[in-house]
Formats: sequence, C-alpha cells, structure tokens
Amino acid sequence: MWRCPQGLLLLLLLAAELALGVRRGRGRRELAPALHLRGIRDAGGRYCQEQDLCCRGRADHCALPYLGTTCYCDLFCNRTISDCCPDFWDFCLGVPPPFPPSQGCMHEGRIYPVLGTYWDNCNRCTCHENGQWACDQEPCLVDQDMINAINQGNYGWRAGNHSAFWGMTLDEGIRYRLGTIRPSSSVTSMNEIHTVLVPGEVLPTAFEASEKWPNLIHEPLDQGNCAGSWAFSTAAVASDRVSIHSLGHMTPVLSPQNLLSCDKHNQQGCRGGHLDGAWWFLRRRGVVSDRCYPFSSQEKNEAGPAPRCMMHSRATGRGKRQATAHCPSHQVHANDIYQVTPAYRLGSSEKEIMKELIENGPVQALMEVHEDFFLYQGGIYRHTPVSLQRPEQYRRHGTHSVKITGWGEESLPDGRTLKYWVSPCTASLQPLPPPPAPAPAHASPPSQTAANSWGPAWGERGHFRIVRGANECDIESFVLAVWGRVGMEDMGHR
Ligand SMILES: *[C@@H]1O[C@H](CO)[C@@H](O)[C@H](O)[C@H]1NC(C)=O
Ligand SMILES: *[C@@H]1O[C@H](CO)[C@@H](O)[C@H](O)[C@H]1NC(C)=O
Repeated sequence: MWRCPQGLLLLLLLAAELALGVRRGRGRRELAPALHLRGIRDAGGRYCQEQDLCCRGRADHCALPYLGTTCYCDLFCNRTISDCCPDFWDFCLGVPPPFPPSQGCMHEGRIYPVLGTYWDNCNRCTCHENGQWACDQEPCLVDQDMINAINQGNYGWRAGNHSAFWGMTLDEGIRYRLGTIRPSSSVTSMNEIHTVLVPGEVLPTAFEASEKWPNLIHEPLDQGNCAGSWAFSTAAVASDRVSIHSLGHMTPVLSPQNLLSCDKHNQQGCRGGHLDGAWWFLRRRGVVSDRCYPFSSQEKNEAGPAPRCMMHSRATGRGKRQATAHCPSHQVHANDIYQVTPAYRLGSSEKEIMKELIENGPVQALMEVHEDFFLYQGGIYRHTPVSLQRPEQYRRHGTHSVKITGWGEESLPDGRTLKYWVSPCTASLQPLPPPPAPAPAHASPPSQTAANSWGPAWGERGHFRIVRGANECDIESFVLAVWGRVGMEDMGHR
C-alpha cells in the first residue's frame, strides 16, 4: 500500500485549498456587477493614482473604495466584465479607457459624477445616469416663492430668509420649532377669570411691560431645534411674574431645562408638552434658575433618550420647597426653588387680556403657527392666503405658545388703525436697554412686545407683532397668567 508522506500530503492540501480559495475569490469578484457598462463615472477622479497602486496579473487586494463599491487597479480588472478604477487605463497602462466617461450633471459651472449630490435648500438633488438632476420635492421652511408673494401682497408685514431656518423642511419646522400640545377640552373649559373693567376705564393705546417694570422683564431663551415651547414660554412668563410680584427682590431667569427634563408626567420634553402640566409642576415642584440648570437639549433627536432629570425638590412646610440636588452647572451654587400659585385662564376679550397685562405682567398665549410665520421679518403679522393655491403639503400648522408683553397700534396710509400685540423672541439675557421716552401710538418697532423663542435674529430684533382683537392664529383663545409665589421671607432677606 502506497503511503503518502505527511509532508507531501500537507503540500497537496495546501495547493488544493489555494486553488479553491482563488476560485472562490474569482467567483466572488466576477459575480460583482461590472463597473463600466454605461461609461466611467467620476471620470476625473484619482484612485489608482492617489494610492500609487498598479498590480500585475490578478491581485484582489489591489482595490479601492469607489462610489459605494470597490474598484481594482490590477490587470485582471481589464476583461469583458470590467471592474477597473476609472483612472486604471490612464495611470497604469497609459492608454485611454475603452469605456467612455458617463455624462455626469452640471450645476453652477461644475460637473458632478453620476450619483453626485448637492443640497438645494432643504432638498437633496442626485445626478442620474441620464445626466439629469433629480431633486427631492419637500416644501422648505424658507420658500422664496412664498417670500415674494407675501412681500408683493401688501399684507402689512415683511417676509424674508431667516438663516437659522435655511435648509430645513417645512415639516421639520413644524416638528422641531414649536412644541405645545393643544389643551384637551377639559382644560380649555377651565374657568376663566374675568377681570372687570370699571365703566369708563380707558387703557392706554400702547403699553410695554419692560417700560413699566424696567429690569424685571426677561428676554426669552432660544429653544433651538427643541420642540419645547411649552417649557420655554412657561418659564419666561413665570420669570417675569416672580420678578414683578416680588417687587424685584427676586429676578430669576427660570430654567426651561428643569421643566423639559423633570416634568415627565404626560409631557414629552423636546417633543412637545402641555401648558397646564407645566404650570402644575411650577406650582407643586418648582424649578431652579436657568443659570443653575442651563438649557442643554438643542438636538432635534427624536430617537435618543431625553436627558435625565438633574434636579429634585422636597417640601419644607407651608407648601414651600427646597432643592435636594446641586446645580447641574458646576459654576453655580444658588439652587433656590421658585414656585408659582395656580395658573388662571383669562377671558378671550382683548380688553381683559390688556388689563391683566398692564396690572400684573406678561401673559402666556397659545398660538397656531402657520407656514408663513417662519418667514416673518417685521410689521404686524397676520396669516396670509399665499399658500392657498398650492398643494396641501405646503399648508401646515402647529401649536406654539408665546409670551405677550405689550400692545400698540399703527396708523395705516388709508387712515385705518391696526392694533397689535407684541411678543419677544430672543436669546439674549442682557437686561433691556433703558426704555425710550413714552412711545407715540404709532411708533417705529417697539423696544419689546409678543415673545417668541426663536433667537434674536428673527423678526423685529427678536420680537414680533401680531394683529390684536381678531383672535389672529387663535392667540386670544387660551391666555394664561399666574402669580409668583412670594413669601415675606423672600422680600426680606435678599
Ligand atoms: C484592456 O481592455 C481593452 C478593451 O477591452 C482592450 O482594448 C485592451 O487591449 C486591454 N488592455 C490590456 C492590456 O489587456
Ligand atoms: C438664505 O440664507 C442662507 C443662510 O444665510 C443662505 O445660504 C441662502 O443662500 C439664503 N437664500 C436665499 C434665497 O436668499
């Protein structure tokens, strides 16, 4: 019986495996689709040249990533089914490629390869093999046609391109920039507190809270791409009212993040929340200042977990509470808890809202935001019909909440008078500049009036004015106010 020496057997096995391996490898490479059937994409790209890579015969490692797949710089790539890198012939063989370059697409004087992309505002455009661009067709938040239509339509306000919104879709604007959940009918049927206007009582034609209460009215914080206006507007109104009702003994900017992270009951942080729940939390748990617990969640990240609650409070008697945690911001030690009394709903009459505002401070208003509001740059806003002719997806709206700080009126060229509310919307925490001399009834844009949390570049230096007395965008339909919870000790020891 012939016995195979062990060494030879090993050699044979090795050889067999090698052959098998090569065959398997070749099979795999041949099964891959040819790269150059309709011509060479990215004809100007440097691949073999970039790596100085040219291999003889077959060398499967002689490969480079190419437009989401792999190309080769070995001689084996040049066969009926070609998977050579675009510059293989030119760089490795010194001959022109046997496949013509595919067309690519032109954009702003540049040729893009097939599958190349660019962004047209909020839409991605992709170069197809036929040499044509194909762009997504999402309505964008900043829409030049809408801007033109508003500015030509003489609606009493100016539209423009707010750069923070450039590149966002309208859908993203509605989803990430608002964030108040419309109250249920049991909440909207909440008893209204009717302020009684004394017969013959006349309210001024213009009013601005920061002029009556200098240094006690705070600029709202910028909510970024956090759909948390429920927390921002609540914290903003509470900050002003605690300051006013403590006669300036306490002037905290209250922390929206404390509400976003810790008010979890039926609330969704940066994905939206309820105003009644926010006021309940401020009353029963209280929040710290924004310096103590700064805003962190700017991300429009719907999948990720909300940041953990970093602040808790416990009762100290008589309904007051104190913090049981250090400030999340390590630079700040003062972790006083601020609370309010139960929120109350105002009647929807313009005069009642005005009387509450002038007597007790800024109020919180629900507001239905439509697609054109994101374009506001100045003037007296009212929802325009410019999108009525367009397909449904261009007409979107969502619920927002804002702080109203004042009112005024403006004389129109035709002799009519247009009344408005004012709301601020800025990121600056600087105290307001000293108030100018009492403004005439139809002054230029006021120093401050409705407050919105979209940053200082938006609107009239971070404020917007909206038509008053017509329930424009529902702004007079659900208006809330509250008293700061101020004890004698708060007035004394500070
Ligand atoms: C590469 O392929 C082209 C087209 O099939 C052919 O004309 C050329 O001779 C080949 N070059 C080599 C070096 O095999
Ligand atoms: C809008 O603003 C953005 C950012 O500043 C800018 O890149 C864009 O070109 C502007 N678009 C128009 C149409 O003006």
